[in-house]
Amino acid sequence: MHKSILTVVGARPQFVKAAVLSRALRHAGLREMMVHTGQHFDPGMSDVFFKELDIPEPAHRLHIHGGAHGEMTGRMLSGLEAVMIEVKPDWVVVYGDTNSTLAGALAAAKLLIPVAHVEAGLRSFNRRMPEEVNRVVADHLATLHLCPTQLAVQNLANEGVRTHVHQVGDVMYDATLFAIERSKASPAVQDKLGLPDGYAVATVHRAENTDDPVMLRKVLDYLREKSRERSVVLPLHPRTRKSVEQHCLTLDGLRVIDPVSYLDMTQLLARACEVLTDSGGLQKEAYFHRVPCITLRTETEWVETIEHGWNRLWSTPDYAPRSDIPDYGDGRAGEKIAQLLASS
Ligand code: UD1
Repeated sequence: MHKSILTVVGARPQFVKAAVLSRALRHAGLREMMVHTGQHFDPGMSDVFFKELDIPEPAHRLHIHGGAHGEMTGRMLSGLEAVMIEVKPDWVVVYGDTNSTLAGALAAAKLLIPVAHVEAGLRSFNRRMPEEVNRVVADHLATLHLCPTQLAVQNLANEGVRTHVHQVGDVMYDATLFAIERSKASPAVQDKLGLPDGYAVATVHRAENTDDPVMLRKVLDYLREKSRERSVVLPLHPRTRKSVEQHCLTLDGLRVIDPVSYLDMTQLLARACEVLTDSGGLQKEAYFHRVPCITLRTETEWVETIEHGWNRLWSTPDYAPRSDIPDYGDGRAGEKIAQLLASS
């Protein structure tokens, strides 16, 4: 009897990661069913990823989004529990550090269903970040810890989590390789947008940057300052747009566009000269394309990108000397995870 996997997704970066594993699970002959919590619901934040990356249509959609964190997570917990009772999977797979991750891990653990956590062991050591709370709890509920980096393995060991811990590489690297191939056929986004050579790509969506108007103004001013050197294109997350409008801030001086699809972002990154972001995924994607990154935060979970000179915090003036990062694997992280799920 083949193992059955229930994959929990909800937010944009999880669609990208799930696309990788979903393909690998199909190759390994494992049965997968997907549940979409609904956390991200705009077509440009959700549907486009499913279409572009051949992600199977979710068997269950919970349509839960918005509200306070506790309310959102609680509703997801209840909805996911009902799905898990119905489906009775052998494994529940959760990704990263969103509220959907936390709800998925908790619902499964309470039902004694083993949880596999993809992107286990990352830490910012900043408990004010909702993501840090989510990932710490998910890691301690998980049965199988699928770590992208050596540091992630070490972080888990420091918290006493030492069994069923595997460094598999980064599924985002697998995703980038796939997207580079697939986006070759599409017309260049740079041309479509009429961007001059030497442009920078920026993204801003972290609560710590968007929810405090003083901080958001500081970030936007920093991007505007940058745009004196080069054109800065800013695909704007709905959360950030709402906050800009609510606090009557200005986006003048920036090339603001709607959120872009994964293939379009891959193309944008491939030709960019600089990335400015508070996203975790984009810090690494910048490196995958060998584009230097400036992180608009006070710390990062992806410390290797800083140590190897491809990334720096915006508070730090210089990059470290540049070298390749060995951690992120060889583009077969999805395959390794599928094998572990099949044999565990
Ligand atoms: C969430 C994750 C974050 C992840 C990010 C990727 C949590 C705590 N945060 O943050 O870790 O990096 O996704 O984008 O889980 N909204 C829309 N349309 C959408 C999606 C969101 O309008 O398609 C609005 C929501 O209604 C809400 C705001 O944007 O008002 C924030 O959305 P939410 O899912 O709470 O958090 P993100 O900032 O997207």
